[in-house]
Amino acid sequence: MIMNFRIFRYDPEKDDEPYYRDYEIEADPKDRILDCLNRIRAEKDPTLSFRMSCGHGVCGSDGMRINGASALACQKLVRDFKENEEVLIEPLQVFRVVKDLIVDLDPFFERYNSIRPYLITKNPVPDKERFQSVEEHRTFEDAIRCILCACCTASCPVNQDKATEAYIGPASLVRAFRYLFDSRDEGSTERIALLDNKDGAWGCQTKWMCTKVCPKEIPVTKEIFEIKKRILESRKGKK
Ligand code: FES
Repeated sequence: MIMNFRIFRYDPEKDDEPYYRDYEIEADPKDRILDCLNRIRAEKDPTLSFRMSCGHGVCGSDGMRINGASALACQKLVRDFKENEEVLIEPLQVFRVVKDLIVDLDPFFERYNSIRPYLITKNPVPDKERFQSVEEHRTFEDAIRCILCACCTASCPVNQDKATEAYIGPASLVRAFRYLFDSRDEGSTERIALLDNKDGAWGCQTKWMCTKVCPKEIPVTKEIFEIKKRILESRKGKK
Protein backbone atom coordinates (compact mmCIF):
# COMPACT_ATOMS: atom_id res chain seq x y z
CA MET A 1 0.00 0.00 0.00
CA ILE A 2 1.03 3.61 -0.56
CA MET A 3 1.99 5.51 2.60
CA ASN A 4 2.45 9.25 2.82
CA PHE A 5 4.69 10.63 5.50
CA ARG A 6 5.07 14.25 6.54
CA ILE A 7 8.28 14.40 8.58
CA PHE A 8 9.67 17.15 10.80
CA ARG A 9 13.10 18.26 9.61
CA TYR A 10 15.56 20.52 11.35
CA ASP A 11 19.31 20.72 11.28
CA PRO A 12 20.27 23.57 13.66
CA GLU A 13 23.64 23.83 11.91
CA LYS A 14 22.02 24.60 8.55
CA ASP A 15 18.37 25.57 8.96
CA ASP A 16 17.01 28.83 10.32
CA GLU A 17 13.68 27.20 11.13
CA PRO A 18 12.24 23.69 11.33
CA TYR A 19 10.17 22.59 8.34
CA TYR A 20 8.25 19.52 7.15
CA ARG A 21 9.09 17.34 4.17
CA ASP A 22 6.72 14.88 2.46
CA TYR A 23 7.68 11.37 1.37
CA GLU A 24 5.62 8.74 -0.42
CA ILE A 25 6.64 5.10 -0.22
CA GLU A 26 5.23 1.67 -0.98
CA ALA A 27 4.86 -0.37 2.23
CA ASP A 28 3.58 -3.77 3.28
CA PRO A 29 0.74 -3.67 5.84
CA LYS A 30 2.95 -5.76 8.15
CA ASP A 31 5.82 -3.26 8.01
CA ARG A 32 6.49 -1.14 11.04
CA ILE A 33 6.67 2.64 10.86
CA LEU A 34 10.35 2.18 11.70
CA ASP A 35 10.77 0.08 8.54
CA CYS A 36 9.23 2.93 6.54
CA LEU A 37 11.64 5.45 8.04
CA ASN A 38 14.57 3.18 7.24
CA ARG A 39 13.32 2.85 3.66
CA ILE A 40 12.90 6.61 3.30
CA ARG A 41 16.45 7.10 4.55
CA ALA A 42 17.89 4.35 2.32
CA GLU A 43 15.96 5.12 -0.85
CA LYS A 44 14.91 8.76 -0.77
CA ASP A 45 16.79 10.92 1.70
CA PRO A 46 20.00 9.79 3.45
CA THR A 47 20.03 13.01 5.50
CA LEU A 48 16.97 12.01 7.55
CA SER A 49 18.10 11.45 11.15
CA PHE A 50 16.45 9.33 13.82
CA ARG A 51 17.54 6.91 16.54
CA MET A 52 16.88 3.19 16.53
CA SER A 53 18.60 0.07 17.71
CA CYS A 54 16.76 -3.14 18.58
CA GLY A 55 13.73 -2.70 16.34
CA HIS A 56 11.65 -4.74 18.79
CA GLY A 57 10.44 -2.47 21.61
CA VAL A 58 13.35 -3.29 23.91
CA CYS A 59 15.96 -0.52 23.70
CA GLY A 60 13.61 2.47 23.87
CA SER A 61 15.62 4.53 21.39
CA ASP A 62 13.00 5.26 18.70
CA GLY A 63 10.51 7.27 20.73
CA MET A 64 8.90 9.95 18.55
CA ARG A 65 5.54 11.60 17.92
CA ILE A 66 3.38 9.74 15.43
CA ASN A 67 0.23 11.64 14.48
CA GLY A 68 0.63 13.73 17.62
CA ALA A 69 1.08 10.90 20.13
CA SER A 70 4.39 9.75 21.62
CA ALA A 71 5.15 6.18 20.57
CA LEU A 72 7.87 3.78 19.49
CA ALA A 73 8.17 3.66 15.70
CA CYS A 74 9.04 -0.04 15.96
CA GLN A 75 5.72 -0.80 17.67
CA LYS A 76 3.43 0.91 15.15
CA LEU A 77 2.40 -1.09 12.09
CA VAL A 78 1.53 0.27 8.68
CA ARG A 79 -1.79 -1.62 8.81
CA ASP A 80 -2.83 0.57 11.77
CA PHE A 81 -3.08 3.49 9.31
CA LYS A 82 -5.27 4.02 6.25
CA GLU A 83 -3.83 3.86 2.76
CA ASN A 84 -2.89 7.34 1.53
CA GLU A 85 -3.53 8.78 4.99
CA GLU A 86 -0.83 11.31 5.84
CA VAL A 87 1.25 10.09 8.78
CA LEU A 88 2.83 12.94 10.69
CA ILE A 89 6.20 12.15 12.28
CA GLU A 90 7.76 14.60 14.73
CA PRO A 91 10.36 14.53 17.51
CA LEU A 92 9.33 13.99 21.14
CA GLN A 93 8.10 17.16 22.83
CA VAL A 94 9.80 18.70 25.90
CA PHE A 95 13.35 17.96 24.71
CA ARG A 96 15.68 20.07 22.55
CA VAL A 97 15.93 18.89 18.95
CA VAL A 98 19.46 17.81 18.05
CA LYS A 99 18.56 17.00 14.43
CA ASP A 100 15.29 15.96 12.78
CA LEU A 101 13.75 13.28 15.05
CA ILE A 102 16.70 13.08 17.44
CA VAL A 103 16.26 14.91 20.75
CA ASP A 104 18.70 15.64 23.55
CA LEU A 105 17.87 13.18 26.34
CA ASP A 106 20.67 14.28 28.70
CA PRO A 107 18.25 16.21 30.98
CA PHE A 108 15.97 13.16 31.05
CA PHE A 109 18.78 10.89 32.23
CA GLU A 110 20.11 13.48 34.70
CA ARG A 111 16.72 13.47 36.43
CA TYR A 112 16.54 9.72 36.23
CA ASN A 113 19.95 9.44 37.91
CA SER A 114 18.90 11.89 40.64
CA ILE A 115 16.41 9.42 42.13
CA ARG A 116 19.21 6.87 42.80
CA PRO A 117 17.99 4.21 40.36
CA TYR A 118 19.63 1.24 42.04
CA LEU A 119 19.16 -0.99 45.06
CA ILE A 120 20.30 0.72 48.28
CA THR A 121 21.39 -1.78 50.93
CA LYS A 122 22.81 -1.30 54.40
CA ASN A 123 22.96 -4.78 55.86
CA PRO A 124 25.85 -7.07 54.85
CA VAL A 125 25.32 -9.30 51.82
CA PRO A 126 23.70 -12.56 52.99
CA ASP A 127 25.48 -15.87 52.31
CA LYS A 128 23.13 -16.86 49.49
CA GLU A 129 21.06 -13.97 48.18
CA ARG A 130 18.80 -11.10 49.17
CA PHE A 131 15.71 -13.28 49.19
CA GLN A 132 12.42 -12.01 47.79
CA SER A 133 9.14 -13.91 47.52
CA VAL A 134 7.19 -14.08 44.27
CA GLU A 135 4.44 -11.93 45.86
CA GLU A 136 6.95 -9.28 46.93
CA HIS A 137 8.40 -9.22 43.42
CA ARG A 138 4.95 -8.82 41.86
CA THR A 139 4.53 -5.51 43.71
CA PHE A 140 6.87 -3.74 41.29
CA GLU A 141 6.85 -6.16 38.34
CA ASP A 142 5.04 -3.72 36.00
CA ALA A 143 7.61 -0.98 36.65
CA ILE A 144 10.47 -3.25 35.53
CA ARG A 145 9.09 -3.15 31.99
CA CYS A 146 10.16 0.51 31.63
CA ILE A 147 12.69 0.89 28.78
CA LEU A 148 13.34 4.63 29.35
CA CYS A 149 12.03 5.65 25.94
CA ALA A 150 10.91 9.01 27.44
CA CYS A 151 7.50 8.84 25.71
CA CYS A 152 5.75 9.42 29.06
CA THR A 153 7.83 12.43 30.08
CA ALA A 154 7.49 13.98 26.61
CA SER A 155 3.69 13.62 26.80
CA CYS A 156 3.27 14.93 30.34
CA PRO A 157 1.50 18.33 30.37
CA VAL A 158 3.44 19.25 33.53
CA ASN A 159 6.81 18.67 31.81
CA GLN A 160 5.54 20.53 28.73
CA ASP A 161 4.66 23.62 30.77
CA LYS A 162 7.62 26.00 31.12
CA ALA A 163 6.40 26.98 34.61
CA THR A 164 6.64 23.39 35.87
CA GLU A 165 9.23 21.83 33.57
CA ALA A 166 11.53 21.13 36.55
CA TYR A 167 9.16 18.29 37.48
CA ILE A 168 11.23 15.11 37.61
CA GLY A 169 8.75 13.40 35.27
CA PRO A 170 6.90 10.10 35.13
CA ALA A 171 9.76 7.87 33.92
CA SER A 172 11.95 8.80 36.91
CA LEU A 173 9.01 8.21 39.23
CA VAL A 174 8.33 4.78 37.76
CA ARG A 175 11.94 3.85 38.53
CA ALA A 176 11.64 5.39 42.01
CA PHE A 177 8.51 3.27 42.57
CA ARG A 178 10.43 0.18 41.45
CA TYR A 179 12.96 0.58 44.28
CA LEU A 180 10.70 2.13 46.92
CA PHE A 181 8.46 -0.94 46.76
CA ASP A 182 11.27 -3.49 46.44
CA SER A 183 11.31 -5.50 49.69
CA ARG A 184 15.13 -5.79 49.48
CA ASP A 185 15.76 -2.05 49.30
CA GLU A 186 16.88 -0.35 52.52
CA GLY A 187 16.96 3.23 51.30
CA SER A 188 13.34 4.31 51.69
CA THR A 189 14.18 7.24 54.01
CA GLU A 190 16.60 8.72 51.45
CA ARG A 191 14.27 7.95 48.57
CA ILE A 192 11.29 9.61 50.22
CA ALA A 193 13.39 12.69 51.00
CA LEU A 194 14.25 12.92 47.28
CA LEU A 195 10.64 12.51 46.17
CA ASP A 196 8.72 14.55 48.78
CA ASN A 197 8.81 17.94 47.06
CA LYS A 198 6.97 19.94 44.39
CA ASP A 199 9.28 18.81 41.56
CA GLY A 200 9.25 15.22 42.80
CA ALA A 201 6.16 13.06 43.28
CA TRP A 202 4.01 16.10 44.12
CA GLY A 203 4.73 17.56 40.68
CA CYS A 204 2.36 14.98 39.21
CA GLN A 205 -1.05 16.54 38.52
CA THR A 206 -2.64 13.19 37.62
CA LYS A 207 -3.15 14.03 33.93
CA TRP A 208 -2.85 10.34 32.90
CA MET A 209 -1.05 11.10 29.59
CA CYS A 210 1.95 9.03 30.74
CA THR A 211 -0.25 5.98 31.27
CA LYS A 212 -2.00 6.54 27.95
CA VAL A 213 1.16 6.61 25.83
CA CYS A 214 3.42 4.12 27.67
CA PRO A 215 4.41 1.55 25.03
CA LYS A 216 5.01 -1.03 27.76
CA GLU A 217 1.54 -0.49 29.30
CA ILE A 218 2.90 0.39 32.72
CA PRO A 219 0.26 1.86 35.06
CA VAL A 220 2.42 4.96 35.50
CA THR A 221 -0.11 7.31 37.11
CA LYS A 222 -1.19 4.62 39.59
CA GLU A 223 2.43 4.00 40.59
CA ILE A 224 2.99 7.73 41.18
CA PHE A 225 -0.15 7.74 43.34
CA GLU A 226 1.32 4.84 45.38
CA ILE A 227 4.52 6.85 45.91
CA LYS A 228 2.46 9.79 47.21
CA LYS A 229 0.61 7.45 49.56
CA ARG A 230 3.91 6.04 50.83
CA ILE A 231 5.23 9.57 51.44
CA LEU A 232 2.13 10.48 53.48
CA GLU A 233 2.43 7.27 55.51
CA SER A 234 6.06 8.05 56.27
CA ARG A 235 5.13 11.58 57.42
CA LYS A 236 2.57 10.09 59.84
CA GLY A 237 5.20 7.64 61.13
CA LYS A 238 7.46 10.55 62.04
CA LYS A 239 4.83 12.28 64.22
S1 FES B 1 14.17 0.40 18.18
FE1 FES B 1 14.45 -0.38 20.20
S2 FES B 1 12.55 0.11 21.17
FE2 FES B 1 12.20 0.60 19.12
